[in-house]
Amino acid sequence: MNGGASDFASKKYGGLHPPLIERLFDEESRKRGDGRETDKAVKNKLHMIYGAYLNASSNKKIAGIVDGLYKICGGAGRENEGGPDPSGYAGKLAEAPDDFAANCNEKIAGMLREAMSAHASTRERLPNIAEFYGVVFGAAGRAETLLDLGCGCNPYALGWMPRNEIKRYFACDVDAGLIGTINRLFAFFGLPKDAFCADLAAEGQYGFFPPGGFDLVFMLKLIPVLEAQSKGRGYAPLDEIDAKHFACSFPVKTLGGRDRGFEASHSAAFEENIAKRGEKFKITLKRRIGSELLYIVAKG
Ligand SMILES: C[S@@+](CC[C@H](N)C(=O)[O-])C[C@H]1O[C@@H](n2cnc3c(N)ncnc32)[C@H](O)[C@@H]1O
Repeated sequence: MNGGASDFASKKYGGLHPPLIERLFDEESRKRGDGRETDKAVKNKLHMIYGAYLNASSNKKIAGIVDGLYKICGGAGRENEGGPDPSGYAGKLAEAPDDFAANCNEKIAGMLREAMSAHASTRERLPNIAEFYGVVFGAAGRAETLLDLGCGCNPYALGWMPRNEIKRYFACDVDAGLIGTINRLFAFFGLPKDAFCADLAAEGQYGFFPPGGFDLVFMLKLIPVLEAQSKGRGYAPLDEIDAKHFACSFPVKTLGGRDRGFEASHSAAFEENIAKRGEKFKITLKRRIGSELLYIVAKG
């Protein structure tokens, strides 16, 4: 007996954004009918697009780290549900004596690294994290409003970004637990709770963003994951989102570390897709950093 999309909600993938599961289930049941083959295909897809990177126990670990962040800055239990936390870390450090601030920063950096290491894709960036964000913000310039699509644990890299310039950081992914904890992280940094769940492979995801657009949109290692779900959706953010710069990146190896010629194939496909959009888009930087191929694209 097959319980349809609702079956998945109570199992391993219970914390996932329901519209994602419903979409996958609809797509697979149209091909295979209602039955075990459909369940199997949905499970395989969920593993490929999400489960290979994160799971319920990684979420638990990350939540514990965020609790720890609040504790070391003395702000535990004082979060606001609605908006920025007035006892946020940024405010605390502004008042703190220098030695406390330095100590706290070092500890915080270690905890943020630990949180990033819980996501298999974000983890790959850790050996080069300072260089990576130096290059991104050096090329994109001052960025007050960020959007991080398929963010994984990338928002925990805030410690390596120019935090004082950032006023809003929107971030989305498909896991409600991951997103809830990122909102607590944002409050810790004194930012609004702008993380949300979305299925970016579905149509019509970008209509509701605030007017004025974004200074910088992260699409880190996202395009191949969206293209595998729905051809063309990987590139849709470039056309549909009002932004000055996009930081797009690609893995050069598989998660298991195998070289399958990704660098050549991803760069050829990406550069062709940018070129066919004409003069509106310009690649202003292409650089391999560690195991990642990074592009900065300016939108005119
Ligand atoms: C390769 S990981 C990259 C994570 C992050 N951008 C980074 O580079 O650290 C891809 C991410 O996209 C998310 N994802 C997969 N399908 C998605 C979809 N349809 N909508 C939104 N996010 C999705 C996954 O959950 C995963 O966190």
